Amino acid sequence: MELNDAIKDRKSIRKFSGKKPDWRDIIEAIHSAQYAPMAGGLFHMKFLIVDDERLINEIANWSEQSFISEAKYVVVAVSDEGIVTTPFPKNGAHFSTQQAGAAIENFLLSLTDFGLSTCWVGHMNEEKIRKLLKIPEDYTIEALFPIGYANEKGKMKKPKADIYNILYFNEWGNDRMRKIEKIDSRAPEGY
Ligand SMILES: Cc1cc2nc3c(=O)[nH]c(=O)nc-3n(C[C@H](O)[C@H](O)[C@H](O)COP(=O)(O)O)c2cc1C
Repeated sequence: MELNDAIKDRKSIRKFSGKKPDWRDIIEAIHSAQYAPMAGGLFHMKFLIVDDERLINEIANWSEQSFISEAKYVVVAVSDEGIVTTPFPKNGAHFSTQQAGAAIENFLLSLTDFGLSTCWVGHMNEEKIRKLLKIPEDYTIEALFPIGYANEKGKMKKPKADIYNILYFNEWGNDRMRKIEKIDSRAPEGY
């Protein structure tokens, strides 16, 4: 799949078919996360693949989101903030969250490329899930990803903002963008 197609095709799916994904595809998608930019080139994440039905049901329960229990796999993305705050004491906490997002987006796009679907789940009882999966205290649970094949269309994809409202040239509030009549996937003329 072309990168631009994957970016535009990715969408949150909360209904899965009964078909079990190939776990090797999930591992490949996690591998893609390892190519994300990281401050100081330090990879600070770990991932747990949960395929035990009992644990998946518990995760659904502690996230208060029953659709999770339909998934055959749940990936838990975890950050070790200390890896980033040690070399970057001032900005490390901020960097840690930012680079987790970058790694996760790689993971999501790679899943899309494999024809797999998921939904980023941030709402959870972190302490209960930490205890359930024996995740050490010094790791941050970034999000959960129930994975399967889509059994719904998902929301129609469109950009989440109007490009004319979020982009300025040179100076905040500059209206040059408003003068560009039509924007497509190419850069505006002259850029
Ligand atoms: C940080 C974060 C937390 C989220 N947490 C949840 C969640 O707990 N449950 C859920 O159903 N969706 C969750 N989502 C998914 C968003 O609802 C979803 O991305 C949004 O509705 C846009 O839809 P799309 O992913 O199809 O573009 C979360 C997304 C992000 C980025």
